[in-house]
Amino acid sequence: MDADAQKKASGEAAAQLVESGMVVGLGTGSTAAWFVKALAARKLDILGVPTSLATANLAESLGIRLGELGPVRSIDLTVDGADEIGPALALIKGGGAALLREKLVWEASKRCVVIADAEKRVAKLGKFPLPIEVVAFGHETTMLRICDALGECDLGIAPRLRVKDGVPVKTDNGNLIYDAACGRIEDPAALAAALKSVTGVVEHGLFLDLADVALVGTADGVVTLEP
Ligand code: 5RP
Repeated sequence: MDADAQKKASGEAAAQLVESGMVVGLGTGSTAAWFVKALAARKLDILGVPTSLATANLAESLGIRLGELGPVRSIDLTVDGADEIGPALALIKGGGAALLREKLVWEASKRCVVIADAEKRVAKLGKFPLPIEVVAFGHETTMLRICDALGECDLGIAPRLRVKDGVPVKTDNGNLIYDAACGRIEDPAALAAALKSVTGVVEHGLFLDLADVALVGTADGVVTLEP
């Protein structure tokens, strides 16, 4: 099975966890898209809460009824992809620039299921550059403060502004993304706290103690992992 087939298998397995009547958080990215398609095919009576405009458009086009976090206070189950899955199901997310809405939806969920292909599993987080969402106002100054925070965690690196087609990527919230190529994150909790202390940082892509289970597509089928 190639990576895309593994993503599809994990998304389809997660769709089997959904029951009629549930409020379901809908993740963002290519793996989450497989989940949304498999969920729509089941034609259950559910309310979806999307984590991005892209996912909202996909789900709506497939006939899934949608609600918004806020009016919807509690979510039964959220299913979403990840860029890295480390020990204890600590994650890096935000490769698709949806980390803020994703984290808001995850934190409002009773149960969070991460879906991925086997390549996403790592012994230590950090090879995938850590996305950090910052407000646009004064972002160059915020970046310098982020460098200080990274330095406190023995990461002497400068994050790079995410650019696509020559222009800075804007999130669905109108913010910018800096990617920090950490290499190895020895203490994810300390790094998360250091980044959150920087004014101008809206959110970072470390998802710690949030995933309840991972369904990982492998060459031998879908494997279930617990923290
Ligand atoms: C979006 C995310 C995605 O879940 C993550 O980037 C994985 O994407 P894909 O399933 O396409 O590999 O965090 O912000």
